[in-house]
Amino acid sequence: MSWGLKNRLARIVKPKTGHTVMLAVDHGYFMGPTTGLEKLDKTVNPLIPYADALMLTRGALRNYIAPDSDIPIVLRVSGGTSIIGKELLREGIIASVKDAIRLNASGLAFSIMVGSEFERDTLLGLAQVVDWGEEYGIPVLAVTAVGKELGGKDKDARYLALCCRIAAELGAHFVKTYYCEDFEKVVESCPVPIVIAGGKKLPEEDALKMAYEALQAGAAGVDMGRNIFQSENPVAMIQAVKAVVHEGATPDEAYEIFKEKKGAKAAARVK
Ligand code: 5RP
Repeated sequence: MSWGLKNRLARIVKPKTGHTVMLAVDHGYFMGPTTGLEKLDKTVNPLIPYADALMLTRGALRNYIAPDSDIPIVLRVSGGTSIIGKELLREGIIASVKDAIRLNASGLAFSIMVGSEFERDTLLGLAQVVDWGEEYGIPVLAVTAVGKELGGKDKDARYLALCCRIAAELGAHFVKTYYCEDFEKVVESCPVPIVIAGGKKLPEEDALKMAYEALQAGAAGVDMGRNIFQSENPVAMIQAVKAVVHEGATPDEAYEIFKEKKGAKAAARVK
């Protein structure tokens, strides 16, 4: 790993705790105006002070995020398909490394579809992006997609361990996957840091518990989207998640933080 690559990775995964709170707002690349992100800047700007990195597309970055922001960017560079198209899993490369450098990206994110008929294309795509990352000193986040379309496989430890290990073997510098039972087995067999996606919106208490359990099992943090930006109070929620990730707050403590921050905002409105 070059000095530049390590330096960029340290901007995302904070050396002080070895953990990270990444905020994922890339959903529009295949889902269009996702609930909560219709006006992405309105939702995301108040969350930026609490996030360690922002994961999004180049179009969202250019249109919604101010260029004087100092939040590290993890740029989604895979896509090209949509939820209404026929080949959702056939993602390819959607941004060049030169554009990523122009955008001052701290990381590149690429999805792999292990078990799908497009597995080979996405794994070779990841390898290509890792070559760029090594050449220019930019860490690559492999995102392990899940779903019934992937040969009927879903979020079990055996499948996710397979995906994460393949991603690391192909050179990914960190991996995003989903939390599952026996998650420590996924972490143990993956030689690079793992962050978890939040998945579909859960009640806040449950999402905090999931983040806590993932950290306990050895995850380096979260790359959470809907469970933050679709929360009834996204600013309170990201602070609660941050307490779990960086301060080791228990789910109960974190939920108290959520309620307290939510209450503070409501009280300020009444005044
Ligand atoms: C799909 C993705 C998403 O677009 C997103 O980042 C997922 O985040 P969340 O599940 O927490 O909403 O990576 O594979």
